[in-house]
Amino acid sequence: MQISGSTFLVTGGGSGLGAATARMLTENGGNVVIADLKGEPTGKNVRFAKTDVTDEKSTQAAVETATGEFGALHGLINCAGIAIGKRVLGKEGPHDLGSFSKVVQVNLIGTFNAIRLAAAAMQHNDPTGDGERGVIVNTASVAAFEGQIGQVAYSASKGGVVSMTLPIARELARWGIRVAAIAPGIFDTPMMAGLPEEARESLGKQVPFPSRLGKPEEYASLSRHIIENEMLNGEVIRLDGAIRMAPR
Ligand SMILES: NC(=O)c1ccc[n+]([C@@H]2O[C@H](COP(=O)([O-])OP(=O)(O)OC[C@H]3O[C@@H](n4cnc5c(N)ncnc54)[C@H](O)[C@@H]3O)[C@@H](O)[C@H]2O)c1
Repeated sequence: MQISGSTFLVTGGGSGLGAATARMLTENGGNVVIADLKGEPTGKNVRFAKTDVTDEKSTQAAVETATGEFGALHGLINCAGIAIGKRVLGKEGPHDLGSFSKVVQVNLIGTFNAIRLAAAAMQHNDPTGDGERGVIVNTASVAAFEGQIGQVAYSASKGGVVSMTLPIARELARWGIRVAAIAPGIFDTPMMAGLPEEARESLGKQVPFPSRLGKPEEYASLSRHIIENEMLNGEVIRLDGAIRMAPR
């Protein structure tokens, strides 16, 4: 999919990995709708749609902002997500179900909600010469593969994102809509900024090479490649400097 002249919905585009991707898209001539709980339009070809990805109505409204303002929706980048740290057996008792459900609701069900509504709009696009009508990039995490102690809810939600990527790619293939996922390691975003500098530094040192946190622009660069490389479909790509997370 060519970025220039195409329109992209970026969930979680108000911060971190999503914000860097939205910037990359507009810098390359794309139109962007940022679908986030918070944020603001940041440029000429950018709109902001206040969206809760767990909510059907506001997510549908974000899709309609894209089709209404720019004529069609060609790409969806799913970056909205939340993280918590909680053990199955914590100091205050067993993991509460409320916070477990909330993480799955936002990270997994929210991602699916955006996919189904975006795909419904994309299926009506005029195909490109190669028959392509849309592209979807999901954000999983290395925690889907080696979740740490305290990451049970987050890992479960991201494992779901990994598992649904292939079946959705298979199903949407008949409309020429591709689906892939990025599984980032540790990236320097506001989600990570909550940790003390010392902890961030120590996390960075655990990355074999390069021994530092990832930059949001590096995530944006891979999402650009996925958007532009038509052969990439149904795959989950780790972007992690070879880190394999330890149990704790
Ligand atoms: N930063 C990392 O190290 C890292 C690693 C692996 C995966 N990820 C994943 O990458 C994605 C982006 O993370 P980030 O680091 O940029 O975090 P971030 O906190 O900077 O950005 C996440 C954005 O999602 C938005 N959001 C949260 N809940 C939402 C909802 N219900 N509806 C709409 N928007 C919502 C937030 O408002 C925020 O703007 C997340 O899915 C995260 O799990 C991040």
